[in-house]
Amino acid sequence: MARKIIIDTDPGQDDAVAILLALASPELDVLGITCVAGNVPLPLTARNARIICELAGRRDVAVLAGCERPLVRPLVTAEHVHGKTGLDGIALPDPVMALTPGHAVDFLIETIRREPEGSVTLCPIGPLTNIATAFRQAPDIVGRLAEVVLMGGAYFAVGNITPAAEFNIYVDPEAADIVFGSGVPLVVMPLDVTHKALTTRARVEAFRALGTRVGHAVASWTDFFERFDMAKYGSDGAPLHDPCTIAYLLKPELFSGRHINVAIETKGAFTLGMTVADWWRVTGRTANAMFIGDIDAEGFYALLTERIGRL
Ligand code: RIB
Ligand code: CA
Repeated sequence: MARKIIIDTDPGQDDAVAILLALASPELDVLGITCVAGNVPLPLTARNARIICELAGRRDVAVLAGCERPLVRPLVTAEHVHGKTGLDGIALPDPVMALTPGHAVDFLIETIRREPEGSVTLCPIGPLTNIATAFRQAPDIVGRLAEVVLMGGAYFAVGNITPAAEFNIYVDPEAADIVFGSGVPLVVMPLDVTHKALTTRARVEAFRALGTRVGHAVASWTDFFERFDMAKYGSDGAPLHDPCTIAYLLKPELFSGRHINVAIETKGAFTLGMTVADWWRVTGRTANAMFIGDIDAEGFYALLTERIGRL
């Protein structure tokens, strides 16, 4: 029986690779893709999600638009990383498939209430606005979820949008505070682990060597997406953040971490959006997250390349 998931996303090139990995993997049943404002504004993330589904030959997937701005703060976007369209790196035609009517938050609530208890996993890979809104509107869905596996946060790796905060959390810290405080079973893929999964030249060329349209798109997106981080960090490649969540569902043995308390800073003048991870368990606060710290990067890219090759 395939594992039922909903991906909540702000595509973004790395979101695109995560969505393709999920659609290429028969172990997963993607019930829908819910879009949120983040890397680029909502009209673009909702457009990009459909482009990605069509690239995978999956016009059947339900794609819905969700929240166009954070709960209480103005939207912060990341065109400097992802380009104006959010999917810069290769020109792809506008989507033909339409959005599924309705709001993503209602889709989340209705789907989680409809599916058998404990059967749905959420994979948020953008700001947590849609998820927090759904949890606030329908608290009963929290206890119905199998787990939430999200990309966000940072501790030893420090922030990427500010010195203290990672982008997905920083854009909507109040939403993150709701999700991390909800009691839902939570797995967190922070920069601590994604920065150990770099898009080295050999790995990008392996995508291109697939000789497929999807492989070419993934290599082109990666070539574009990595330039900002390589210039900033002087690294051999860029962290491929979002696919780590999907890879965890497919091969959790590729990852390791600790079940600890993670608090979200929602007030700090300099630390807004920081995930305060009690890695050394000094606070006595209740553990609320499996905070992932390490990855078998070779195994991750082998899985990713093999699956992308199936599309
Ligand atoms: O900080 C990395 C995260 O921010 C990734 O999800 C990337 O797509 C951006 O949304
Ligand atoms: Ca993302």
